Amino acid sequence: MLCQHYELKLEGADSAFSVDASNVTFGAGCLSEAGEIAKSLGITRIGVYTDDGLVQTQHVQKVLDSLKAANVDIALYDNVRVEPTDESFQAGTKFAIDAKVDGFISIGGGSVIDTAKASNLYSTYPAEFLDYVNAPIGKGVAVPGMLKPHIACPTTSGTGSECTGIAVFDLLEMKAKTGIASKMLRPTRALIDPDTTLTLPPNVVAASCFDVLSHALESYTARPYTQRPAASSPALRPSSQGSNPWSDLGCAEALRLAGIYLERAVKDASDVEARHQLMWASTLAGIAFGNAGCHAPHGMSYSVSGLVKDFQPEGYPMGEPMVPHGMSVIVNSPSVFRITADDQPGRHIDGARFLGADVSDVGDSEAGEVLSNRIIELMRATDMPNGLEGVGYNADDIPDLVNGSINQRRLLDNAPMKIDEEVLTNMYAGAVSYW
Ligand SMILES: [Fe+2]
Repeated sequence: MLCQHYELKLEGADSAFSVDASNVTFGAGCLSEAGEIAKSLGITRIGVYTDDGLVQTQHVQKVLDSLKAANVDIALYDNVRVEPTDESFQAGTKFAIDAKVDGFISIGGGSVIDTAKASNLYSTYPAEFLDYVNAPIGKGVAVPGMLKPHIACPTTSGTGSECTGIAVFDLLEMKAKTGIASKMLRPTRALIDPDTTLTLPPNVVAASCFDVLSHALESYTARPYTQRPAASSPALRPSSQGSNPWSDLGCAEALRLAGIYLERAVKDASDVEARHQLMWASTLAGIAFGNAGCHAPHGMSYSVSGLVKDFQPEGYPMGEPMVPHGMSVIVNSPSVFRITADDQPGRHIDGARFLGADVSDVGDSEAGEVLSNRIIELMRATDMPNGLEGVGYNADDIPDLVNGSINQRRLLDNAPMKIDEEVLTNMYAGAVSYW
């Protein structure tokens, strides 16, 4: 490969990378294109997936109006659970089967988009629930073929789910977060209207933007594709294929935008430019991590959210304790990057520079510190939780947190270094508090 970073190809490793480009429409007001797009995809009866908080909003109304104008039959499912479970995925599936839909549109955050992906999968290729779930928790059976068309309309600038083939959920009987990963799950079209973020509370904007920031940093510092064992056939090359020149482009720009606009978007809801730019950063990072994959901060986040005790963040539905996805990720990130920087110092310095840090006198031995410090600076400026303590854990919880995430091999094996129980313990220990 042309880039020096990828020249070192290991014995038996891959020598090519794939670009699975998302089909994206981006711009203010584009939700009104939903009907024409559905029609062009051959959809005659569409499952509209959203949640009970969004169903009354102008965003959902705009989509419904557009579908009606295009004479597409509508079956509305507004019962999506925030932080979905195997049960809620199966409820969404049952709805799709009963309603006999031939296509899907999801309007919401990652929970809504992921529920539509799973409902599409299980209603198109019925199977035992654990069949398609990632091994070793599930059987990891390959998705048999193409799914029905799915138009994904994100309403937060965070998850990037509209650009990926991943659906994440809580498996209730194991109290574990896990997922289904297949290129077939990637939505057919992403319809991204940045106006949807203008009404979000500050804490939601901050949490979702830190998710974006970590998607980009994790993809940029992931084990290079030239160091990942080659799949037995090109068709089995994973989406989490490691860092590659394509994903690098999106990561760099997403980080540059986050460095400039994150604070502005959180502190001033009327800063339309900042909120629009963060939605674009989210799109770029989503495309990037959909082709490179995240690593340890996301792998560790599964137990941080799954073992939640009594944390209830501002700006989210009250009632059940929860650690929002972006927070469950970012509390780990500074600690992880302090450790992984030893393997790829140059890439960690790049990350800090993209985020706006001054790296002019930074040597390789300070790479982890400069990147972590810049992330912590942004966390403090936007009132994010102070590490694991900030979301209700203490050092005594580390063994449980390790147990809950050590099997997230799809993510942990995509890190630039080998992550065993001891390394993971050190990563959590470094994340207990930062200031
Ligand atoms: Fe994420």
